[in-house]
Amino acid sequence: MGRVSLKERIAIIGGTGLNVFDELEKRREEQVSTPFGAPSAPLIYGELGDRPVVFLARHGAGHAIAPHRINYRANLWALKQCGAQYIIAVAAVGGIHKEMIPERLSIPNQIIDYTCSRKNTYFDKDLSEVTHIDFTYPYCETLRMKLILASRAGHLKAYENGTYGATEGPRLETAAEIVRLERDGCDMVGMTGMPEAALARELGLCYAACAVCANFAAGRGEGVLSMNEIQDTIARAMVKVRILIKEVVTLI
Ligand code: HPA
Repeated sequence: MGRVSLKERIAIIGGTGLNVFDELEKRREEQVSTPFGAPSAPLIYGELGDRPVVFLARHGAGHAIAPHRINYRANLWALKQCGAQYIIAVAAVGGIHKEMIPERLSIPNQIIDYTCSRKNTYFDKDLSEVTHIDFTYPYCETLRMKLILASRAGHLKAYENGTYGATEGPRLETAAEIVRLERDGCDMVGMTGMPEAALARELGLCYAACAVCANFAAGRGEGVLSMNEIQDTIARAMVKVRILIKEVVTLI
């Protein structure tokens, strides 16, 4: 396979636990601006196994931007602007489905959106025509399949499906809310999957996610949720995420 062109640049949006991506070689940082304001952090350009990759820390370089305060529109716009075509979003989740146990990775295939306060579209005002995107299948199936193949190649045993419930946060859910999410069909719950996926679709980007199970969702484990335990679990799971990313770039 030859070197990819700029148009095939791969973007990684790193979530909690993946604030830096040291594996990138020939790193270069750029602070960009967009019509929607500044993205969460400077874009980090580099190479991974000879592929041009750009990395963006979703919660900011210092991990200080809460999920509901992230400028999702600026983030996706900045990635599109720099030539990214494939967007791999890494995001921590709580596990609801019995297969979604702490440290397990998942490549979700559906989303239910419970967020309520976020700027969730580019097709907002000053339109020549009202625009509705198709979102039947919210993730790019081409990239999802590559993530699944990469996970198999790396023997990571990812859960290869699943419905991601996107909650507003920043608080975690109540046990009753998790019962409701499960009844709705959610297999995992996180706070950053939307509007990120929809904005990527509006921009015509090929976007898929790797969800990292950080904890049993509220009411499903023992006792209440501990932030320290969640962070420790995410740190351990990130070893797998780094393997996944190294494998997947060879397939794009
Ligand atoms: N709920 C929502 N978001 C999360 C969780 C959770 O239990 N764990 C990690 N991100």
